[in-house]
Amino acid sequence: MGEVRRPTKNRGFYVRMRFLHSKNGRPQEKNFFYRYYKWVLWLSLSLYLFSSYFITKDNKPPSLDKTRVSSASRALYESTNASFLQQPISNPALLNNLKIFVYDLPPNYNTDWLSNERCSSHLFAAEVGIHRALLNSDVRTFDPYEADFFYVPVYVSCNFSTVNGFPAIGHARSLISSAVRLISSEYPFWNRTRGSDHVFVASHDYGACFHAMEDMAIADGIPVYLKKSIILQTFGVKYKHPCQDAENVLIPPYIPPDSVQTALENYPVNGRRDIFVFFRGKMEVHPKNVSGRFYSKRVRTEIWRKYNGDRRFYLRRHRFAGYQSEIARSVFCLCPLGWAPWSPRLVESVVLGCVPVIIANGIRLPFSSAVNWTEISLTVAEEDVEKLGPILEHVAATNLSTIQKNLWDPRNRRALMFNNQVQEGDATWQVLHALAQKLERSYSRGSGVSSQWASDT
Ligand SMILES: *[C@@H]1O[C@H](CO)[C@@H](O)[C@H](O)[C@H]1NC(C)=O
Ligand SMILES: *[C@@H]1O[C@H](CO)[C@@H](O)[C@H](O)[C@H]1NC(C)=O
Ligand SMILES: *[C@@H]1O[C@H](CO)[C@@H](O)[C@H](O)[C@H]1NC(C)=O
Ligand SMILES: *[C@@H]1O[C@H](CO)[C@@H](O)[C@H](O)[C@H]1NC(C)=O
Ligand SMILES: *[C@@H]1O[C@H](CO)[C@@H](O)[C@H](O)[C@H]1NC(C)=O
Ligand SMILES: *[C@@H]1O[C@H](CO)[C@@H](O)[C@H](O)[C@H]1NC(C)=O
Repeated sequence: MGEVRRPTKNRGFYVRMRFLHSKNGRPQEKNFFYRYYKWVLWLSLSLYLFSSYFITKDNKPPSLDKTRVSSASRALYESTNASFLQQPISNPALLNNLKIFVYDLPPNYNTDWLSNERCSSHLFAAEVGIHRALLNSDVRTFDPYEADFFYVPVYVSCNFSTVNGFPAIGHARSLISSAVRLISSEYPFWNRTRGSDHVFVASHDYGACFHAMEDMAIADGIPVYLKKSIILQTFGVKYKHPCQDAENVLIPPYIPPDSVQTALENYPVNGRRDIFVFFRGKMEVHPKNVSGRFYSKRVRTEIWRKYNGDRRFYLRRHRFAGYQSEIARSVFCLCPLGWAPWSPRLVESVVLGCVPVIIANGIRLPFSSAVNWTEISLTVAEEDVEKLGPILEHVAATNLSTIQKNLWDPRNRRALMFNNQVQEGDATWQVLHALAQKLERSYSRGSGVSSQWASDT
């Protein structure tokens, strides 16, 4: 810990230099490079992909899985365009020359949990995705004294219940408080600002309230030691709520890029869509009264009651591993609330080109400065679900193609996906961008980063 070492800069550099050299090399070399151009390019790219694999600190054994093959072919394709190689992977000026120090915590706080493969791929895995991307990004600094922010990598969503497979987050508070004790005793930075420049991910239902049920989440509240810090969270509403009562950046739920890539290869976004309205998920016919609350506020029950059997609606109540291809075949995808207002369907719909129909009153959506949600989705009030049929028919007859054209802009897809390596405009980049803006505001106010901004816009 506390090791002071310069970050390895942009690893695309080697490839770029090789390539530039082959263009501007001395005359006797020019012919060599010209003749073996493809071979040199292939070798450099293999080296690049190979080395980036090993620098990525993940524990998985090397395998030629689908992602790697498709990213390799994409890299090969893009590398035929010379200007791609000359472009920096990220533009530091856009990020306000942001510098982030990533604490090197003992593995029981993070990487030990990766022994369960689901830890890095389930819907709460942004805590893993952002950490991985930061570790080998240009904004990482190994010198905490020049850091603008401090990232505390604790994976709290990977203790899967042996009963139902859901993450048990009962241990989240104690694990994080133990991490805070550790960093505040071993480093001076936490005490310096009482944690206000420290960044945590809380990617489950009710953010840093660490409980899946709203009433319990509200009763527990955000732990005192996190209240001054910056929380990257999937939960957000437009009204005052105890579970967003700390400075926060709204992030999308985690969807593994390789799963989406597979669906997109089989069903391109502008392909034929033979399902008019799609929803697959829990739809209770008789929802239980759980301490005064009903699952989905009975919205899903109402959808099932009204539209089950309607030929325009493809509604399924059971899990199915191939559901992403169903989304890719659909025109409208319902995104109703569950216990929490948000769901991974929001991201999956956008990424797979199905118009999200958001049914969750007051929901706040991620990265609203990058993704113009009003242009790419529809919002239906919870109390209007029984009119879904006529509402969607009307849109199909009027502005559907406009919405789809906006939706299919690849920038939306990019903004909502986390990659192991930060890419300009992707989800981790959007987080960095939001942090950089906080920095700008705190400079312009001539004060330190404070907790007065409780929103990401
Ligand atoms: C090369 O890439 C740049 C930026 O990615 C793009 O603007 C340009 O149109 C591409 N050129 C070709 C020939 O594809
Ligand atoms: C994981 O969750 C179980 C059940 O909630 C709990 O008993 C156990 O202590 C947790 N494990 C850790 C390492 O926190
Ligand atoms: C930070 O403050 C805590 C509580 O006041 C104290 O126990 C700890 O030693 C301090 N850390 C450092 C590095 O001084
Ligand atoms: C749900 O249960 C609570 C008690 O937990 C009760 O006060 C309330 O009336 C019930 N609501 C309905 C609609 O049954
Ligand atoms: C989103 O698009 C709408 C309609 O085109 C526009 O009025 C609004 O200003 C846009 N919002 C942002 C944040 O760009
Ligand atoms: C499309 O029309 C619906 C209502 O018919 C409206 O709510 C929505 O904002 C429109 N969207 C766009 C992008 O024009």
